[in-house]
Amino acid sequence: MKDTYILGIESSCDETSAAIVKNGREVLSNVINSQIKIHEQFGGVVPEIASRNHIEAISNVVGQALKEANITMEEIDAIACTYGPGLVGALLVGISYAKALSYALNKPLVATNHIHGHIAANYITHPDLKPPFLCLVISGGHTHLMHIKDYTEFEILGKTSDDAVGEAFDKVARVIGIGYPGGPKVDELAKEGKTTIELPKTHFDNLDFSFSGIKTAVINLHHKMPEMNKADLCASFEKVITEELIDNTSKASKKLNIKKIALAGGVSANSYIRKKFLELQKQGYQIYYPEPVLCTDNAAMIASAGYYQYLDGNKADLTLNAVPNLGTVLRGENSPLRDRSQSKI
Ligand SMILES: Nc1ncnc2c1ncn2[C@@H]1O[C@H](COP(=O)(O)OP(=O)(O)OP(=O)(O)O)[C@@H](O)[C@H]1O
Ligand SMILES: [Mg+2]
Repeated sequence: MKDTYILGIESSCDETSAAIVKNGREVLSNVINSQIKIHEQFGGVVPEIASRNHIEAISNVVGQALKEANITMEEIDAIACTYGPGLVGALLVGISYAKALSYALNKPLVATNHIHGHIAANYITHPDLKPPFLCLVISGGHTHLMHIKDYTEFEILGKTSDDAVGEAFDKVARVIGIGYPGGPKVDELAKEGKTTIELPKTHFDNLDFSFSGIKTAVINLHHKMPEMNKADLCASFEKVITEELIDNTSKASKKLNIKKIALAGGVSANSYIRKKFLELQKQGYQIYYPEPVLCTDNAAMIASAGYYQYLDGNKADLTLNAVPNLGTVLRGENSPLRDRSQSKI
């Protein structure tokens, strides 16, 4: 079979990224221009500043991705871009660039769901991984427990009813004053701490999650007792979060009788969460997670997810628009050409 080369473009938040991926699995280049340093002073991503920086970066980032992959525009089979969920102004930069390339080069355009991209990052790190499997998507904006029925067929089994896990990490880090972005800082500091502080854990009968209670408990403890050891606070916070993630994932695994579990999204880079999930291997689970650079936003994961949509014949046209609150639901329901007013996360 002829090889397929996808140019992926990602601009949903504060990373401008372009990548060339061969047959959905082999990364030829993955250029990531992060704006973390720019947003650090504000303690979070400022949407307008993010959009402006995407505009400045995108041409160079795409050019660099082609150069590093040693491939020409003409050799690309399709262009896959993130069209949601994300910041509207940021998404529009990548979408407009992808549409212009698609029109000028007469190449197919594939509209890719950012969350499907996070899941697909696992296909790159694990060339043998095939659906069906369960995927726990833990990122800055999402906490979804999903059944990956096929490459382009998904079902949400449970999701957060309030904060996303990454959001809880970032807020805790900000309040206790250990810096931005919070997740990696909490991860590092927790390694020096003990898991001795009692924190509340939320239980639902279904597979949903809640993280605002634990986040608020950590923040209140810190305010009441500022002298409390921050490393212990971080370690205890990670422990309770991880228990909740593992409880629901194993419940879903038993319900569906699937022991293949993948982690995805920025928080899946967390060393304690990885370690605890890996321990499940002793109980017969197969555990997968992407290499660190593929956990957070990047275009290689978008090209990989886009490849499977391209194989399905799921192409977009030049009316493609950004869908900031795009959901991650079943096949077809996410089509970029459908009525988007119903889109819910
Ligand atoms: N080692 C780590 N431990 C915990 N959290 C981490 C770690 N590394 C990154 N994160 C968190 O991951 C999040 C960023 O991940 P990601 O790029 O997937 O999110 P996003 O793109 O902002 O949101 P979404 O993908 O839901 O739209 C941030 O909240 C960050 O703090
Ligand atoms: Mg993301």
